[in-house]
Amino acid sequence: MLQVEELSHSFKNGNEITAVLHDISFRVHKGQMVALLGSSGSGKSTLLNLMAGLMKPTEGNIFIAGHSISAMNENKLAEFRRKHIGFIFQAYELLANLTVRENIELPLVFQSVQPSVRRKKALELLEKVGIPDKADLFPSQLSGGQQQRVSIARSLITEPSVIFADEPTGNLDTRTEEEILAILKTLNQTLHTTFIIVTHEREVAAQTEHILTLRDGSLVTDRQKVAEVLPSGGIAIETK
Ligand SMILES: Nc1ncnc2c1ncn2[C@@H]1O[C@H](COP(=O)(O)OP(=O)(O)OP(=O)(O)O)[C@@H](O)[C@H]1O
Ligand SMILES: [Mg+2]
Repeated sequence: MLQVEELSHSFKNGNEITAVLHDISFRVHKGQMVALLGSSGSGKSTLLNLMAGLMKPTEGNIFIAGHSISAMNENKLAEFRRKHIGFIFQAYELLANLTVRENIELPLVFQSVQPSVRRKKALELLEKVGIPDKADLFPSQLSGGQQQRVSIARSLITEPSVIFADEPTGNLDTRTEEEILAILKTLNQTLHTTFIIVTHEREVAAQTEHILTLRDGSLVTDRQKVAEVLPSGGIAIETK
């Protein structure tokens, strides 16, 4: 489903080169929910942005649903992202001048889906994330946890193969964090959407089926949750 092969990444600023990710390989199977754990600066967001096709890696390959996203040109990649990849951000990133329903529908507007079809799907998803009564409110009229529910619904509306979430509960209190994680888990189990969730909190990672740990840009094995280390040094995650 998602395969990362011998991935390395460096940032260049003027003459200065910062190596951030070192020779990372792993596989995630369809329907798995994986936490990407690591301390601040370990390279989690960089890895997530590379997997989501938001930047190109210095070295290595990324395959999503059998497609090499590293080999795609900008136009192809943008189209692939719209169809196959969902994103949930720490700061929700909802549009303030659109209602909750319109925010959720937005990815389908870009795909020229009929308004009546979009609306129906958005309302179904609002139900799934537990706030069916908020459709006509604006983001500023919702709590942080409710806004994150909207952003989860928006990420799901294109029925993506994989959803990347960068610290989705980073701005929330512990109780709301637990609620959001419970929603993600239920969606993972009912829709079989693959989730990769970045977090620096062990407690959040403990809620997922599998954990990948980054330390200083390298992947370290988590013995309890990772089933198989590949001969190449990569890690294959198998369902329990
Ligand atoms: N555009 C950039 N140019 C140069 N260095 C960068 C750039 N983006 C990130 N870095 C560096 O890459 C390293 C990893 O950053 P990244 O944002 O991936 O970490 P993170 O694990 O997501 O941290 P946090 O938990 O704080 O969000 C850091 O040392 C950071 O300074
Ligand atoms: Mg980060």
